[in-house]
Amino acid sequence: METNLIRESAVGKIILIGEHAVVYGEPAIAMPFSEARVTASISEKKGPVDLDCIYYKGELFKAPEILLGLSRLVEEITKSFNKKLEDFTIRIDSTIPPERGMGSSAAVAIATTRALYKYFNKKLSYEKLTNLANISETVIHGTPSGIDAATIAGEKPLYFIKGEPFKALKLNLDGYLIVADTGEKGQTKATVASVRNLTKSNPKKYIPLIKELGQLTNQARESIEKNNKKLLGQLMIQAHKNLQDLGVSNQILDRLVEAALDQGALGAKLTGGGRGGCMIALAADKKSADLIAKSLIENGAKNVWIDNLGDDLIDI
Ligand code: PMV
Repeated sequence: METNLIRESAVGKIILIGEHAVVYGEPAIAMPFSEARVTASISEKKGPVDLDCIYYKGELFKAPEILLGLSRLVEEITKSFNKKLEDFTIRIDSTIPPERGMGSSAAVAIATTRALYKYFNKKLSYEKLTNLANISETVIHGTPSGIDAATIAGEKPLYFIKGEPFKALKLNLDGYLIVADTGEKGQTKATVASVRNLTKSNPKKYIPLIKELGQLTNQARESIEKNNKKLLGQLMIQAHKNLQDLGVSNQILDRLVEAALDQGALGAKLTGGGRGGCMIALAADKKSADLIAKSLIENGAKNVWIDNLGDDLIDI
């Protein structure tokens, strides 16, 4: 009989501004998204380690390629404790839609790491947690900036620069953020690679777009600290234009951004890797957020969440 021993979870994340540019050392702002989460459970069983998730049920090391990041992570952690890879099952349950730029893969890695550390009775620091999660993120995304793992592990809004100590961001904004899922898989690995190609083949044209995204992020940080929603909205609109020019938007993302703006959103843009995945819109109040959410569904969004940014006010 299986004994359920351990259960640990992790939230999703949303990048407010700065995706893609963050890969090139520019800043980005990301926030935890607690409307959606991943739970990792570990139970005892005899024999080789099993995995049970929506993609696959069976022995961990026969898992399909899509789960390679997770199996590497589990291997690494068990090895670091001098334990054998046997006698437990990992089960993953998630309400974060996968491959939508909501940090599903990092949340799986973080929930699993937390569960394994608890199972083996080991202490886990924030730094260790983000480093481990990035093992799996590197297998999945190629050259991740680390922003997903940092935000999800810390569960606080972050002003993030790759390779620098993470700075928690004082979120002083009383607006509403609407997150809409296009229903299409985002393509982070492909879009990161295609932006890399563009910046290599035509740096004169594309590097300035990246640099400008960094400047927009810095202005966004100021607007958040000063509760200037109107300005933040304008910055989001400009960021979306730059992301379009970098070739990472697509028709449905553009349609949803247009629909949100037509319905009175202060700003709207794609979020995450792009070419599918999710978009976000900023609304001044709940009434406006409800209208925007309704319009996004009418325009083809498969799911919509409304996050009260005022609830996330934090004191640092
Ligand atoms: O995981 P996603 O789809 O939210 O994308 C991460 C953001 C990128 O800047 C596109 C890539 C990265 O590693 O930072």
